[in-house]
Amino acid sequence: MCGIIGYIGEKPANQIIFDGLTRLEYRGYDSAGIAVLDGGRLLVKKEVGKLRNLHDMFITDFPSASTHGIGHTRWATHGRPSGFNAHPHGDCKTSLMVAHNGIIENYIKLKTRLTLAGHVFLSETDSEVLAHLIESHYSGNLEVAVRTALQEVEGAYAIVVIHRDHPDCLICARKESPLIVAVGQGENFIASDVTAIMHYTRTVHYLDNLCMAIVKRDGVDFFDVDGHSMDKKPVQVDWNPVAAEKGGFSHFMLKEIHEQPQVIRDTIGGRTSEEEGKIYLTELGLSGPDIFKFQRIVMVACGTAYYAGCVGKYMIEKLVRIPVECDLASEFRYREPIVDANTLVVAVSQSGETADTLAAVREARARGAKVLGIVNAKESSLTREVDGLVYIHAGPEIGVASTKAYIAMLTAFTLLALLLGKIRGTLTPAAVRREISELKRLPQEIEKVLANSAPIRVLAERFENAHNFLYLGRGINFPTALEGALKLKEISYIHAEAYAAGEMKHGPIALIDKELPVFVIATASAIYDKIISNVKEVQARSGIVIALATEGDEEIGKYVEHVIYLPRVSELLSPILNVIPLQLFAYFVADLRGLDVDQPRNLAKSVTVE
Ligand code: AGP
Repeated sequence: MCGIIGYIGEKPANQIIFDGLTRLEYRGYDSAGIAVLDGGRLLVKKEVGKLRNLHDMFITDFPSASTHGIGHTRWATHGRPSGFNAHPHGDCKTSLMVAHNGIIENYIKLKTRLTLAGHVFLSETDSEVLAHLIESHYSGNLEVAVRTALQEVEGAYAIVVIHRDHPDCLICARKESPLIVAVGQGENFIASDVTAIMHYTRTVHYLDNLCMAIVKRDGVDFFDVDGHSMDKKPVQVDWNPVAAEKGGFSHFMLKEIHEQPQVIRDTIGGRTSEEEGKIYLTELGLSGPDIFKFQRIVMVACGTAYYAGCVGKYMIEKLVRIPVECDLASEFRYREPIVDANTLVVAVSQSGETADTLAAVREARARGAKVLGIVNAKESSLTREVDGLVYIHAGPEIGVASTKAYIAMLTAFTLLALLLGKIRGTLTPAAVRREISELKRLPQEIEKVLANSAPIRVLAERFENAHNFLYLGRGINFPTALEGALKLKEISYIHAEAYAAGEMKHGPIALIDKELPVFVIATASAIYDKIISNVKEVQARSGIVIALATEGDEEIGKYVEHVIYLPRVSELLSPILNVIPLQLFAYFVADLRGLDVDQPRNLAKSVTVE
């Protein structure tokens, strides 16, 4: 996620902004920039790299002691990490500068129109469109120009704007992406979150969605999307700095679980056109003929990423009708894999640095296969060793136990399956439109589950001292069971095993007794009746069943004491929703057991060695 800072006051803006950006580094970034207004001129410095390496450019050699400026750290989404793509972005005359966090979904259409109108773009980003759009509407009133421009924008944004003809103010606005305005003595701040500025002031306004603010040295005015003035009262932030990085959550893992609705929106980003039933994966790196040539797909990954690939298998086989195998990277790399130029190997990795996955990619390419990477970390090793990419936009994942990256991977697989199905003709535009609509509905459904997590915590209190768990799932939710069991294992240290529900009677049923809690994923599906049979098998042996079910299911309650009801979503996308309660359950159990949730024993965030 990008980081935004704005400052207007009495101190050197570049120093305040640089300091604030360093406090936002945990958000992850690949480039940074600062712009200040000095004597009627906008001065901007921006470059790819880490702030510690840009200190001289932004501090030692900075050509101005202006007290009015904006700054940005960029986590690349559209356009590779580079100085040109770094923010802030200016208009044609460098009369204004904009820093942006979010994704402009209709930027292609806007950029085309503005280019035809004579605007000259310098970057590959979606964000630069904002600078030219504001310029196109500017005729002296900056507030009106910003508001009018934003009314044309589709997608998510948190922006801050500085203009050379307005030395007394900054303007900021937000839609979906968070932004705060902090109030000091004779100085005011704009920031992505309180972490950046809380050592200057703890008096904070959380900008409401679809609202904007005019920030001056001696005050702040707030407006809604229609320009009506709003009377906002500030709040006092009492977080300690470490807690602030966690956004007020107890652990990064819990924060990241709650970021998942936004992560889905960010990963979808500007990659879909629902009205046309089209998917745009611009970094895919595979031509139409390539996509037609593949006779099979092999997924290679480790851990949670492997389970994401297993869900991807079900999605692609259902929508694209080509065979998909899933292989643990550590197995694939040594089994003389049978892959060739007619195989598409898909490597899935949050970090892009997992040694086994990198080795599997090299093995696949050595045997002539094309390799596609599903990756979170920009510029990671894996991104430089594949033929094509589908970036997931999960932002930096700090908790060792992967949550939001998993959700982002499943979102990416949904987009990939839709694109491949459309190209190979197994999906009509109407079918693509339907799935896009379902996918875009997921964030709000997940928000409902997150808002109602208390019953899941109660379950965690009931079972925190269990010694073993069994997780059962079928079909596309068998990988959900695998991922749920892994979450519990790796952060609570309780043994948990996942099994295909239909396979339980071939052995694991011997484990069932009144001491063994059994999670069963029994949400609406074509094989729901089979799952109910499995539930009865467990009940008949005094097993304790905890079921995930779909709201309105009146059957499951007849057999199961503990039911977590979830909103109805399509079976194809149900793994994205169903994993949420399993993540929360694992988190609550580990927290109740007083364990180090974010840094579990023996684990590393990225296993860069064999
Ligand atoms: C998942 O919670 C673990 N952190 C681990 O299994 C992880 O998914 C695995 O090591 C793969 O990491 P990667 O996605 O960075 O390649």
